[in-house]
Amino acid sequence: MRIGVLTGGGDCPGLNAVIRAVVRTVDVQHGGEVVGFRDGWRGVLNDTWEPLTIDRCRGILPRGGTILGTSRDQPYTDPDGVQKVRDAIARHHLDAIIAIGGDGTMGVTTDLDRDGVPVVGVPKTIDNDIASTEMTFGFQTAVEICTYSIDRLHTTAESHDRVLVVEVMGRHVGHIAVWSGIAGGATVTLVPEEPFDLDEVARRITARHEHGSWATIVVVAEGAVPKPGTLEVVEPQLDAYGHQRLGGMANIVSAEIQQRTGIDTRTTILGHVQRGGTPVAFDRVLGTRFGVAAVDAVADGALGTMVALQHGHIVRVPVAEGVGQLKMVEPELLRTAGLFQAQLPRSPQRPTSG
Ligand code: F6P
Repeated sequence: MRIGVLTGGGDCPGLNAVIRAVVRTVDVQHGGEVVGFRDGWRGVLNDTWEPLTIDRCRGILPRGGTILGTSRDQPYTDPDGVQKVRDAIARHHLDAIIAIGGDGTMGVTTDLDRDGVPVVGVPKTIDNDIASTEMTFGFQTAVEICTYSIDRLHTTAESHDRVLVVEVMGRHVGHIAVWSGIAGGATVTLVPEEPFDLDEVARRITARHEHGSWATIVVVAEGAVPKPGTLEVVEPQLDAYGHQRLGGMANIVSAEIQQRTGIDTRTTILGHVQRGGTPVAFDRVLGTRFGVAAVDAVADGALGTMVALQHGHIVRVPVAEGVGQLKMVEPELLRTAGLFQAQLPRSPQRPTSG
């Protein structure tokens, strides 16, 4: 067996666990070899690669990022791209390429499968928004980092009677915000699933402060949006790949809360801190299971599939299922988060008749 492996899209804690597991499984189970392409699909197109061995993978399990490097380049923007992928597969005598990445990478993997190229997908994203898998590795690490940060912000919020607004990642969904908001005891959590009204947020915070509760933490997912017509927000700029460059919604929320409540309000934007560094144990284990399962899929000829976590088990789904559908935060979790947030003042109770 000979397998190519690449990591595409943003980096994510747990990528190295997948790479290590692919190398280990190919070696131990099949006596085969692994070619690691550099910087995502760019390495396949440019033929930049390195042989991956068990020795090369020693010590990488606890390391964040990806030893292979990553990029958002993809074959379909190059007129000869698909042919170059086929050439790379022939040149290296590969049975398949295992592509580890998010929505964009799974999209390319789907298209390559349609065009008859042997591929298997492994989903990754700290946002945890890929459909068909209950969890992606990297998510739990991001939640830990955000929760730890919120815990630290609590002491300043308490000491100064301030509102502290903390922005976490979550481009289209609020998984990181809701999990870290519940774990960190947030006062208010704003997520893309539920557009916010800052007048209402301000009333909730004011009521809380009037009752003498001062450690006010507002968690904002970077992709949170106001209810239509309640607040003017400038459209985010696009990056070189046409993706909106998010980050900064907390600054807007913070300024508006201060203006509406008169309470000193400060902002912390966690940004890439929550995507870097050592993966937690859960992400190392899930990445390892995904890596083993991806090699099994190649061995079984299950090309065009993506490995996924469902009901605690690793399964295979068509890779197209990992593309274009967002996994939103469950209403049950939103309700649970909501119960622990600052509430609107109760309307005065009517006396009950005799
Ligand atoms: O999709 C993962 C993610 O971390 C998002 O939460 C975030 O919006 C985006 O990547 C940031 O991408 P970049 O590193 O290219 O700025």
